[in-house]
Order: sequence, then C-alpha cells, then structure tokens
Amino acid sequence: MDDQVVLEARGLSKNFGALQVINDVNLQVRRGAIHSIIGPNGAGKTTLFNLLTGFLKASSGRVIYQGKDITDLPPFKVARMGMARSFQITSVFPELTVHENVRVSAQATQAHHYNFMMNYKRLKQAETKADAVLASIGLYEQRDQLCKNLSYGDRRVLDIGISQATEPQLVLLDEPLAGLQAADHERLVGLIEDMAHSMTVVLIDHNIDIVTSVSHVITVLNQGQVIAEGTPEEVKGNPKVQEAYLGGV
Ligand SMILES: Nc1ncnc2c1ncn2[C@@H]1O[C@H](COP(=O)(O)OP(=O)(O)OP(=O)(O)O)[C@@H](O)[C@H]1O
Ligand SMILES: [Mg+2]
Repeated sequence: MDDQVVLEARGLSKNFGALQVINDVNLQVRRGAIHSIIGPNGAGKTTLFNLLTGFLKASSGRVIYQGKDITDLPPFKVARMGMARSFQITSVFPELTVHENVRVSAQATQAHHYNFMMNYKRLKQAETKADAVLASIGLYEQRDQLCKNLSYGDRRVLDIGISQATEPQLVLLDEPLAGLQAADHERLVGLIEDMAHSMTVVLIDHNIDIVTSVSHVITVLNQGQVIAEGTPEEVKGNPKVQEAYLGGV
C-alpha cells in the first residue's frame, strides 16, 4: 500500500435494515492532509465516521489504518492506535471543569495499572498534558470553570482539546463549526490549521467557503456514495457536485 495513505476505506457499506446508508465507499486519506467530507444532510457523513472509528460495525468492506485492518476493533482500541474524533454534538461533561474534561480524555488512552505509585505518576502526566492542551487551544484561563458555564464557542474549542489530549496522529472532526457564530469561525479554523501541522485531519463541515479554503482534498458523499473527489477547485467545478450539493451555484 502507498505509505502516504494513513486511513483507507475499501468497499465500505452500511445498511440499517433496508436502508443502505453507506454504499461501497472507497476513500484514501493521505498523511498530513486536511481531507474534508462534504455532502447534503443525511448523505452518510457521520455514519462513515462511525464506521472508520469502530462506533458502528460495517455491513461489508474494510477499514485500514496505518496498514492495519481495524474494521472489527472497538472504538477504544482504535483510539489507542492514535485516531481521535469529535462529535457533531458537543461531548463535554457539563459538571466537570475544563481541565477535568481534558484530563479524563488524556487518561482514557493510558494503559491501566494496579500499582498505586504508577497510577499516581500517570495522573500527574495526564494533568500536565491537559494543561498543555488548554494552553495550546487558548482555554487555560478557563481551566477551573465548570463546563456548563462556558460559552458555546468555548465548548466547541474544548471538544477539539478533548480530542487532542490523546496525542492522536489522525483526528476526525464532525462539524466542529456547527452552531457557531461567524465571529468564532476564525478561531476554530485557526485551531484546525494548527492541528494539521502535526497530524492528519478529516473534517466534516457544511460551510463550503471554509471547507474549500482549508482542505487539500474534498470527498463528496451523496446518498451514501462518493460522487466526487479532488482538490477544492476540482470539486467546486464538478457538475455532479453542483447538482447534488451546491444547488447549481
Ligand atoms: N442508527 C441508525 N439507524 C437507522 N438509520 C440511521 C442511523 N444512523 C443514521 N441513520 C440514517 O442514515 C442516513 C445518514 O445519516 P448520517 O447521520 O450519517 O448523515 P450525515 O451526512 O451525517 O447528515 P448531517 O449532515 O445531517 O449530519 C440518514 O438517513 C439517517 O437517518
Ligand atoms: Mg452528520
């Protein structure tokens, strides 16, 4: 396999009963890219993320990550291999502080130890990691606030921080900009671009201007199938995409 390909879907399909939601999807994500998945509501984007990360079991096809077949692995094993994701709906624990939310995530991928001293050392490592992440995403000042008191924009930034705490090599972001005011877009886009310096980013978003400005590659899904793929220019100029997604713009 091309060693520039870090994540691959091969003939991936998923049906819920009679409903075919993902239909023979082939996808190759290159190392270091910002690779976006776009498509109309209900196209199957979130389902595809769920298949890639082990949250859903494929009906057929394979998922290959860094040359290994991960199709049947549960999400926590996929996470330990260096793949992180964020969710379409914010996934912070409202009753925990900002720091605690990131720390819990940092701890989630650590191996479990029954030795007290070792566990203490791990806790300290996770706390240090959480603080470093908070500094990098600009939320260190809010470290001790309960998440329920954060603004919506800060929560979405924190979602990204939670994904970063596991030190992933690849991150999948499901609509990180959803529900944000335009004023917060720049902040999130800056974070995504920063992340892309040290890892591969797979992004789902509906904001076509942002997607075309940040992506190296765009894959367009429609009714569970890939209808186009290429650079932002190629995809924007594709008549099939205009018909299915851009409404002929
Ligand atoms: N667990 C499920 N059971 C049955 N149908 C489902 C399930 N999850 C998703 N679907 C259906 O699969 C289709 C694709 O849904 P999905 O959430 O993947 O779309 P999406 O592209 O992420 O859409 P959006 O842009 O609105 O987030 C939809 O028709 C949805 O109703
Ligand atoms: Mg979705």
